Amino acid sequence: MSVGRRRLKLVGILMMINFFIYVIVEVSKSGSDEGNGKRQVLLPTGKFWRKRAASGAYWNREQQKLDRLYNPILNLLNNVTVEEMVAYNASLLNSCDMDSTIQSEIKDFENLPVRFKDFLYYLRCKNYSLVLDQPEKCKDKPFLLLAIKSLTPQFDRRQAIRESWGKELKVNNMTVVRVFLLGDTPPEDDNPDLSGLVKYESDKYNDILLWNYKDTFFNLTLKEVLFLKWVSHSCPDVQFIFKGDDDVFVNTHQILDYLKTLSAEKAKDLFIGDVIKDAGPHRDKKLKYYIPESLFEGSYPPYAGGGGFLYSGNLALRLYNVTSRVLLYPIDDVYTGMCLEKLGLAPEKHKGFKTFDIEEKQKNNICSYSNLILVHPRKPQEMIKIWSKLQDSSLNC
Ligand SMILES: *[C@@H]1O[C@H](CO)[C@@H](O)[C@H](O)[C@H]1NC(C)=O
Ligand SMILES: *[C@@H]1O[C@H](CO)[C@@H](O)[C@H](O)[C@H]1NC(C)=O
Ligand SMILES: *[C@@H]1O[C@H](CO)[C@@H](O)[C@H](O)[C@H]1NC(C)=O
Ligand SMILES: *[C@@H]1O[C@H](CO)[C@@H](O)[C@H](O)[C@H]1NC(C)=O
Ligand SMILES: *[C@@H]1O[C@H](CO)[C@@H](O)[C@H](O)[C@H]1NC(C)=O
Ligand SMILES: *[C@@H]1O[C@H](CO)[C@@H](O)[C@H](O)[C@H]1NC(C)=O
Repeated sequence: MSVGRRRLKLVGILMMINFFIYVIVEVSKSGSDEGNGKRQVLLPTGKFWRKRAASGAYWNREQQKLDRLYNPILNLLNNVTVEEMVAYNASLLNSCDMDSTIQSEIKDFENLPVRFKDFLYYLRCKNYSLVLDQPEKCKDKPFLLLAIKSLTPQFDRRQAIRESWGKELKVNNMTVVRVFLLGDTPPEDDNPDLSGLVKYESDKYNDILLWNYKDTFFNLTLKEVLFLKWVSHSCPDVQFIFKGDDDVFVNTHQILDYLKTLSAEKAKDLFIGDVIKDAGPHRDKKLKYYIPESLFEGSYPPYAGGGGFLYSGNLALRLYNVTSRVLLYPIDDVYTGMCLEKLGLAPEKHKGFKTFDIEEKQKNNICSYSNLILVHPRKPQEMIKIWSKLQDSSLNC
């Protein structure tokens, strides 16, 4: 056989192989098309951008609606401007009427603990008003604002904080100011009427912010949103904010030392604390943090424990901006983590935040407090004692 004929034979064989492959592909294609009955290109019938499966949990479902409402790309495709959309839904977004449709939205609503019903009936209401305000608090553009979550009856905790780590002071050119964040503790729930005493306290110390919503554990998220709103309106130039509980000890000087060293770039997006990652809702009904499956499913974004965290004033303004896009969640620190996530940020863990206390044998050694930022829990008497020891100029740690 000549080289030419051999080549021709090879080409022939290759062509036959190709033909068989073609036949096999076609046969298998027509076979799989049979189910559809016709041989057409299949176009998706729904809108491809709404592909996310509808969630079974109420919070997730409502949050998906909000996400759609605020997604500029989806709204452009629908030929609706964001402003139009927001205006259209405004009534729904800020409704303060009791939501009586909720019972039919959540299948086990009737069996939920009362605190969940209270929370869900007024889920969309955020516009509570200040009863006691401190509009002048930030007129000197403070460096650090201490914002402490408290409850009306806890007078002794507030006073201990005033006399210790919460002192308003000026170190070099850095001004530190303080506010306590309170809601209502209504006398009709068998509580003694302390409103006159809080009014007196506010006049005497000028550090009380009190809103007219009921101060309960699940309403701490309202406290967060209303505080961010207050910062945006009454304290927009503050450089840094520490927000925490009234049962923690804070080494305020350590915070100032830390903040002084930050670069401008790091300072702008600062958000540090005791960060919890890869957490999700607790399903044990006996726990304080219990969340039913019918309310929320999925995991939590990284968040800083509510005992205390430190962040920039600039970030507070951006966080407030984003609160309208995140449905209230009954656990306040998780909610703040959700807002950070919406901004594309995550809190950063700092080992100076000891929310689970320090070792027992270190507690009486004052030097264990000189390098930390926060320790939880501490009684009012302990706060005063630790603070006064830390101020001792002969202290050598
Ligand atoms: C806003 O209104 C649109 C149009 O009626 C609706 O499709 C959407 O679900 C509403 N969004 C919310 C959050 O209720
Ligand atoms: C989109 O909006 C513009 C201006 O508001 C209008 O002129 C146009 O007809 C709209 N297009 C559709 C498809 O509705
Ligand atoms: C909040 O705003 C809504 C709508 O503007 C209003 O109906 C409601 O009374 C306000 N609620 C409070 C608690 O101020
Ligand atoms: C304090 O003074 C230092 C040095 O003069 C300056 O860099 C810093 O910006 C000032 N801080 C404030 C809060 O004014
Ligand atoms: C939160 O406060 C509002 C206004 O006082 C109240 O209607 C609601 O029941 C409270 N929610 C919870 C969970 O206590
Ligand atoms: C708040 O959000 C709006 C729209 O998303 C944006 O135009 C505005 O600049 C934001 N403001 C702040 C302080 O981030």
